[in-house]
Amino acid sequence: MMSHESLIGGVEPRRIESVREREAARFTAARPKAQRLAAAGHHGYYAGFPLQWMLDWPMPFAMVVAKASGATLTDIDGNRLADFCLGDTGSMFGHSPPAVVRAITAQAGCGLTYMLPTEDTLAVGELLVERFGLPHWQIATTASDANRFALRLARAVTGRDKVVIMNGCYHGAVDETFVALKNGSPVNRPGLFGQVVDLTQHTRVVEFNDLGALEQALAPGDVACVITEPALTNCCMVLPEPGYHDGLRRLTRAAGTLLLIDETHTISTGPGGYTRRYGLDPDIFVLGKPVAGGIPASVWGFTDAIAAAWDRLRAAKDAGYSGIGTTLSANAMALAAMRATLTEVMTDAAYEHMERLAERLCTGLGAAIAAAGLPWHALRCGARVEFICAPGPLRNGTEAHGVHGTDLERAIHLGLVNRGCLIAPFHNMMLVCPATTESDVDRLVGAFGELARELAGRTH
Ligand SMILES: Cc1ncc(COP(=O)(O)O)c(C=O)c1O
Repeated sequence: MMSHESLIGGVEPRRIESVREREAARFTAARPKAQRLAAAGHHGYYAGFPLQWMLDWPMPFAMVVAKASGATLTDIDGNRLADFCLGDTGSMFGHSPPAVVRAITAQAGCGLTYMLPTEDTLAVGELLVERFGLPHWQIATTASDANRFALRLARAVTGRDKVVIMNGCYHGAVDETFVALKNGSPVNRPGLFGQVVDLTQHTRVVEFNDLGALEQALAPGDVACVITEPALTNCCMVLPEPGYHDGLRRLTRAAGTLLLIDETHTISTGPGGYTRRYGLDPDIFVLGKPVAGGIPASVWGFTDAIAAAWDRLRAAKDAGYSGIGTTLSANAMALAAMRATLTEVMTDAAYEHMERLAERLCTGLGAAIAAAGLPWHALRCGARVEFICAPGPLRNGTEAHGVHGTDLERAIHLGLVNRGCLIAPFHNMMLVCPATTESDVDRLVGAFGELARELAGRTH
């Protein structure tokens, strides 16, 4: 009998290792071409990959993609997978949605970037106001950029230097957000490269769902902005407790602090994001990743009050070099794709389908967990579903940190790939897109159930 402490998510380590070994061999046997390329070293790339995040996949070597369409991805060895990772949200509305393909094909012969608006650009401005409510918008190239620009503006218009973040958050490559709580004290995130400033000097970090800690962090009256996702989606998934968002808005307003809601992942909740579905009232709204159907682009919107303050700043400062914007921001190709995405892809009907199948997935995973008798749980935020190999719900980043990123998760991910289902590598995130079918969902639930039963030692 194993002692309780040596179990990982309720599973014996030797069982995890035997599943992982068997699944690694099965993965390898199904991918001779990719294995040959990996053995040759992916020459030209540092550590074999153009983006270091690609090292985070649980497979023994990279699966090389041949093509993807809708909810299906095919690798160069001819393996077809139901894709629930969807480019970690960049392709949340499916691979190559036909409307986006038409738009970029039409734009492709007319120039790709000119640093001037097109008719698509002008239409998108109106679409953003209509959909998300805020009256003023800017376009950037990534959600990281949008968050960075928005925080810069928040500091400029409030004349305050501090930012508050939630422990366990991720908002992209944004230095201000690379602070975490370690044993209750703020520290610079250990993985960050090349930062010479002590980020804890300007960033305060509090636990999500802790209004008392937030009130304390805001009390000195020097916080420009609180930046948060409406539900944390980058440290497993942490949902807001009842009343949390009301408290967050009330406290930020009382402190004269701006509230930035980053909907880059929670746009899974509905056509207007979590904000519209649950009536949040942010000063700044950020959305990146899927907003142009997979073409790099992001948007950030803000209130009349911020716009008026920006006007005053512009009048008082020398023109140029504001630190806001990059050369390819708002290029014609991105705006053509965004217009098509907003009008033809992110539709109410698409969301209804996604919501229904995500509920089927979440319920199916919950039932599989119960059948295996494991102390795990599954939850969702609209079309975004997560299984967590620990009891739930998790309340905050510290609780989430303790339970994920384990060998257990990696063995499950690999087992799912071998059963034709791809999920996000960084945690246990599964996205349902408009092209996902019931049989895709049932395949994932079935594969997960089979692995969970084996890991629990219930093979019959
Ligand atoms: C909530 C959130 N905001 C921003 C980002 C940054 O997106 P990007 O890497 O496209 O800049 C991410 C990336 O995962 C995210 O999860």
